[in-house]
Amino acid sequence: MTTDRRAATAAQLPLPLEREGGAAPVLPEIGIAPEWKDQPRLWGHALHPMCSYLASFPAALAHGFIGRYSRRGDVILDPFSGRGTTPLQACAEGRIGVGNDLNPFAHLLTAAKVEPASRAETSTRVAALRLGWAASAPDWIALAEAATAPDGGGTLVPAAGSGAGGRPTETLPAEVAVAFHPRTLGELLYVRASLRLNDRTDRFVAAALTGILHGKSASYLSPLMPNTFSMAPRYVREFAARTEFSAPERDVFVGLERKLARLQREPLPTTAGIALLGDARDVADRARTALRERGLPDRARLVVTSPPYLRVVKYGYYNWLRTWLLGYDSRAIDATLDDAHHREPYLAFLADVLADLRSILADDAVVVLVIGDVETDRGRPIRGAGGLGLAERVWEAAAEPTGYRLAGVARDEVAANRKMTKLWGAEAGRATKTDRILVLGATESGRRRALSAAATPIDWDWPPRGLRAI
Ligand SMILES: C[S@@+](CC[C@H](N)C(=O)[O-])C[C@H]1O[C@@H](n2cnc3c(N)ncnc32)[C@H](O)[C@@H]1O
Repeated sequence: MTTDRRAATAAQLPLPLEREGGAAPVLPEIGIAPEWKDQPRLWGHALHPMCSYLASFPAALAHGFIGRYSRRGDVILDPFSGRGTTPLQACAEGRIGVGNDLNPFAHLLTAAKVEPASRAETSTRVAALRLGWAASAPDWIALAEAATAPDGGGTLVPAAGSGAGGRPTETLPAEVAVAFHPRTLGELLYVRASLRLNDRTDRFVAAALTGILHGKSASYLSPLMPNTFSMAPRYVREFAARTEFSAPERDVFVGLERKLARLQREPLPTTAGIALLGDARDVADRARTALRERGLPDRARLVVTSPPYLRVVKYGYYNWLRTWLLGYDSRAIDATLDDAHHREPYLAFLADVLADLRSILADDAVVVLVIGDVETDRGRPIRGAGGLGLAERVWEAAAEPTGYRLAGVARDEVAANRKMTKLWGAEAGRATKTDRILVLGATESGRRRALSAAATPIDWDWPPRGLRAI
């Protein structure tokens, strides 16, 4: 990792890549030190920690590049936006943040952050939900008690978004029933049926609710699972039976109001962003259309993104309780996402994404790709280190052939990726070793801009001094 923050100029930087022993090429380093690592864990806008999301990067990392490579009013795009870190941080800094993800859960989180609801809007909505609950609580509690009774398997409940008076049409999974106190479950079933995810305020409330669904402290609605991910359904059922787990009563409305107060404790970004749902391979057209419809500039000046890790995360499976709450099918999510590729199809996939992106990039656009080295494949060490040197291979097989110009690579040592280690168990070791950050120019002028602005000093006060007057 370099700590030399002087940027190489375009003239100084040797573009031809060296190779060591015929392996992956050795990429030139760009003078960007990972100062984001020195910032507090929750650095950045208060909306960021809305809900935990595996393999998300810190807001401070996004800021390190937004500060160097964009100005207010610029469009900043993330084609794999996950929980919306880049687009939210962009909007919070007066840029137009555009996020895209193929996972509907990620899309919901991104949309909730770039088109957030105000405190007045959510207070009114939660008050209305409380009123509706007061009028119908006995029915919902009776339903939840039936579902959580020892012979309650197969209880039918109303679908998500079907309305507070919705008819019971879908079976409540046993692993959902076991996670909550009957009263908490009754409240959840009612709120889940009431919220309409295409409404901005309801979406924000639903996203906040996913963030408090499970976790170990008293602020979460079920202590059965950690906050970071859902344990396997079978494990949950067996663990609950073995330990005679009995969920404590937690009030959904109180928990929700506290969560909303934490999220809305600082002013909302004054710039609205755009959240798109779809495949990164065709994001350019969809982003351009959405930007034009809003009368906004239709070229992105900066992309900050981390593509899916190679066979590490199953976003549906590890979020099954949250996807149940939202009415999404976790298996269908995993069937569509591009997380399961082996290396060569993964590189071909990224080449398609980068080729498509070109048409929406400004001439001097900078593209920042955060790529994790992966030592394990679904928990087992990868033979022949197929996941190592991935960034180098991405440059060689996906970025260079699609016409990008390499400014350099910044290294971000990942000391111990605890979330991933927990997922696979201690014996699986670390899922990623060193994140490499490829900094590319869309053209030669983008590469020169990437190099000359690498030395820009970054203001790490939050909110940055220049933004405080907004
Ligand atoms: C490493 S995560 C991004 C995390 C993000 N940087 C954040 O901070 O939350 C990669 C994302 O790629 C998404 N993804 C996987 N395949 C995709 C595809 N074909 N098109 C768009 N998104 C996809 C996953 O749903 C996941 O959210």
